[in-house]
Amino acid sequence: PRTAAVLPAAGRGVRLGPGAPKALRALNGTPMLIHAARALAASRAVGLVVVVAPPEGAAEVKSLLDAHALDGGDRTDFLVVPGGETRQESVKLGLDALPEDIGIVLVHDAARPLVPVDTVDAVVEAVRAGAPAVVPALPLTDTVKEVEPRIGGEPEPVLGTPARSRLRAVQTPQGFDRDTLLRAHESLAPEGEGATDDAGMVERLGLPVVVVPGHEEAFKVTRPLDLVLAEAVLARRKA
Ligand code: C5P
Repeated sequence: PRTAAVLPAAGRGVRLGPGAPKALRALNGTPMLIHAARALAASRAVGLVVVVAPPEGAAEVKSLLDAHALDGGDRTDFLVVPGGETRQESVKLGLDALPEDIGIVLVHDAARPLVPVDTVDAVVEAVRAGAPAVVPALPLTDTVKEVEPRIGGEPEPVLGTPARSRLRAVQTPQGFDRDTLLRAHESLAPEGEGATDDAGMVERLGLPVVVVPGHEEAFKVTRPLDLVLAEAVLARRKA
């Protein structure tokens, strides 16, 4: 079946500080979402990329794709749709734009612009091999504690410490059998009932989700320090 990637890029990126929507901010002179779109298009498996643009930025995103020669090319088609209030809503709007013949869907955050093509391919492979939902993930380096959240820097009581060896930090692209992901989105509340990733919604349906190895360079650009790291990774790739 044909594989498409939905690229949610409609977030404001508040944690990155003031400025343009996060996906439009430049890394080494190129907007983050262009890096992310290229990373997806680099996979031979991906035939279509649906970019979910900031609601008022669809025209700008279209011209960016053109300017960077990502306007359809030979192997990969590009579509741009306006996004929604929440990430989940944006993903749903992207799914609604998929043509009938798409059987496998990747969902990839524009905020992970440097994901290596091997990671994209590994996720597609695992879905092709029969897993309805696949997430790339890495073991944690930090120990994680569950706390009772308090606001304003007050000390927070610790509730427990899950065994680190059983924890994984999940990345994107997450890969899905198309019908499974659609069912997950349609059966949950508009807000995704608090799901912070797409696979989480599939888990709530009681369906199996598997993890494949992620990659250090698929980290999420969230805070200002992440921009420094991302530009260093790009410089190292060029060297
Ligand atoms: O905010 P967070 O880092 O979880 O965002 C992950 C991805 O979801 C980003 O690529 C962001 O642009 C996208 N997003 C979206 N629509 C929203 C909020 C976030 O497409 N309303």
